[in-house]
Amino acid sequence: QYAKLGALTSALALSMSWGVSTALGQTVLTVTHSSPADSHFGEAAIAFKQSLEAQTDGAIDVVIQRLDNEREALESVQFGTQECAIVSAGPLGNFVPETRVLDVPFLFDGYEHARGVLDGETGQELLALFPRYGLEGVAWMENGFRNLTTGSKSIASPDDLVGMKIRTMENPIHIAAWQAAGVLPTPMAFSELPPALQQGTVDGQENPIPVILANNLDMMQQHLYLTRHVYSPGIFACNPDFVAGLDEQQQAALKTSGAFAAAANRKRVEKDELVGIETLRDRGIDIVEIDDIQAYRDAMASAYADFEAEFGAERLQAIRDWS
Ligand code: PAF
Repeated sequence: QYAKLGALTSALALSMSWGVSTALGQTVLTVTHSSPADSHFGEAAIAFKQSLEAQTDGAIDVVIQRLDNEREALESVQFGTQECAIVSAGPLGNFVPETRVLDVPFLFDGYEHARGVLDGETGQELLALFPRYGLEGVAWMENGFRNLTTGSKSIASPDDLVGMKIRTMENPIHIAAWQAAGVLPTPMAFSELPPALQQGTVDGQENPIPVILANNLDMMQQHLYLTRHVYSPGIFACNPDFVAGLDEQQQAALKTSGAFAAAANRKRVEKDELVGIETLRDRGIDIVEIDDIQAYRDAMASAYADFEAEFGAERLQAIRDWS
């Protein structure tokens, strides 16, 4: 439905004027993201701002804002009421359906694998599809590998998850995978998660270490299971008509600044992954390493027939075999 929204609104967006001009004649570029400033997304946005403002001699003024509802952020970029956004791939597949292939659980072995695929042919082909849906994919970003957390209910194996309410992103692939495991997935925007955890509306949630750390989710949860069940990419997306309205030099600066943002984002994810687990343990959450990760793969296995039907078994295998 969001993909259709893009097509319907592109004509309207074309007639809008871009990037409010200030008295100094600057073009204002607002970029939103869903985490605090001191986070893997926050550092990316700051790197982007510093790079783009320096490269354009201040002709572009980058304004960074926090917007926890990533679906709303993408809608605003698509519609043209904000210029750019950094979001996770959670809601992205509802806008650019082909990107859903990246959301399949246990597709990537680790960061080198996931980043290699995004930087390689698959990632670049997917970015090239964004304009079809009223978005410009400037650069891939990442949240990291997602881990399960629960409140008072603890789990010894995926069997214990049956019937539990776990908050997921508004992502059909994640929802299908958890449903296959017998979970009652409860999709909601991130902005709704803290009250849902505090009021016990859900029994748990899943997010990467950088997100758990930056948003203090450990204060609302008792157990962290290092399931690393799915890689969570992110995207730096802008409105295509805004980009088209920049001059050639500014467009090139936007692209290189997107690459700077991606590098800063990955560096911070690495740091958070390195020290985050110990930090979280020190802060008091019970951390559980998973010895039998195959049990989680098996629990989600019945969803794979649908994933293969949607994306093609060979395509999924080619991504798994990337080297
Ligand atoms: O769980 C989510 O919705 C996402 O991982 C988040 C926290 C918004 C980061 O992109």
